[in-house]
Amino acid sequence: MRKFILKTTTTLAAAAVSVSMAHAGDVEVLHWWTSGGEAAALNVLKQDLEGQGTGWNDMPVAGGGGESAMTVLRARVTSGNPPTAVQMLGFDILDWAKEDALADLNDVAVKEGWDDVIPEALQAFAKHDGQWVSAPVNVHSTNWVWANKAVLDANGIAVPANWEEFEAALETLAAAGVTPVAHGGQAWQDATVFDAVAMSAGGPEFYKAAFIDLDEEALGSDTMVESFRRMEVIRGHVDDNFSGRDWNLATAMVINGEAGFQMMGDWAKGEFLNAGKVPGEDFLCFRFPGTEDQVTFNADQFAMFDQGGKVSAEQAALATAILSPSFQSAFNVVKGSVPARTDVSDEAFDACGKQGMKDLAAAAASGNLYGSMAHGHAAPAAVKNAIYDVITAHFNGEYDAATAALELVDAVSIAK
Ligand code: BGC
Repeated sequence: MRKFILKTTTTLAAAAVSVSMAHAGDVEVLHWWTSGGEAAALNVLKQDLEGQGTGWNDMPVAGGGGESAMTVLRARVTSGNPPTAVQMLGFDILDWAKEDALADLNDVAVKEGWDDVIPEALQAFAKHDGQWVSAPVNVHSTNWVWANKAVLDANGIAVPANWEEFEAALETLAAAGVTPVAHGGQAWQDATVFDAVAMSAGGPEFYKAAFIDLDEEALGSDTMVESFRRMEVIRGHVDDNFSGRDWNLATAMVINGEAGFQMMGDWAKGEFLNAGKVPGEDFLCFRFPGTEDQVTFNADQFAMFDQGGKVSAEQAALATAILSPSFQSAFNVVKGSVPARTDVSDEAFDACGKQGMKDLAAAAASGNLYGSMAHGHAAPAAVKNAIYDVITAHFNGEYDAATAALELVDAVSIAK
């Protein structure tokens, strides 16, 4: 906690400096893209804008899921000094829109025809009362596994088709002295793994009932107990230093062969690419066993803070740049995500990106596309954070699986 406050204070001081240096014609962008792969993707956007004469004022706040970024944002808004544009996820966008804090992007959206090319699932979070309030950048999903191919080959492990095979693969790696699972013990990372584990243990109806409908019966069910039990299996296969580790350092363990697998959203692919690794040769990407037909998605969007009633020229330029088809391809190829538009060719994407695009379209068509609980697309922040707390306490041994399910019922009922 202390560390977090310190970090936030430093960031706020940095923010004050960056604001004083801002010029008219600049956009100040608050985001949490701080890893190597993320920075490479962000550069694509910066350069695009700078090429059009719009300057970039960077305001990074590390931490996947954006919890720390949202805390800094709240402080900036409270002090009457909101940033121009903010990376945001799902329900956070709707919460700010309800507070009337976001600029209306309708003129840009209508001019650029967003209604026709942005999928419904994203529009549900990008519009409030029928008005566009944010610009979708991409679609990520959380039910992926990343594996070191040489490590799997050396241990005779094929891509696991179900939970039992996955558990067997973890045991094989442990017996060979390789860390089976690269993981960072931070609440949002524990929850990211839980997205996939719960979807696999209970299927899409269970996932929806528990995390989207917040149904008490599902939250306290035997299936939830089984999901927690599987988390214990995973917890038993991480290394001793997992606590507090950043997600990209966990990815690095898979990249350098220290660990076999990481369960993480497809931003992890950005790290492999940034390290010069090739999918299918150096690393493998596959859906978490038992979730091959499902996609648990989160879409990064940029919401523009109202700077006095009208969208500024810079905000409009940023929104237009983000949704341009060429940017959607160039950015998402580097980021690991897939385009937020349905009309972008998959030609420039690698094998994992092509699969991501195919999976997304298939899941949307078959009713298998669900918002990620861990990344703010299933329930509002208060509920999400309550779920995080239980998952993390259980992961760190505070409760057994049965108690965790009971705690989840209570925590959600208090938060909602
Ligand atoms: C964001 C990704 C980001 C990841 C890790 C997620 O919440 O959607 O864009 O790469 O966090 O920072």
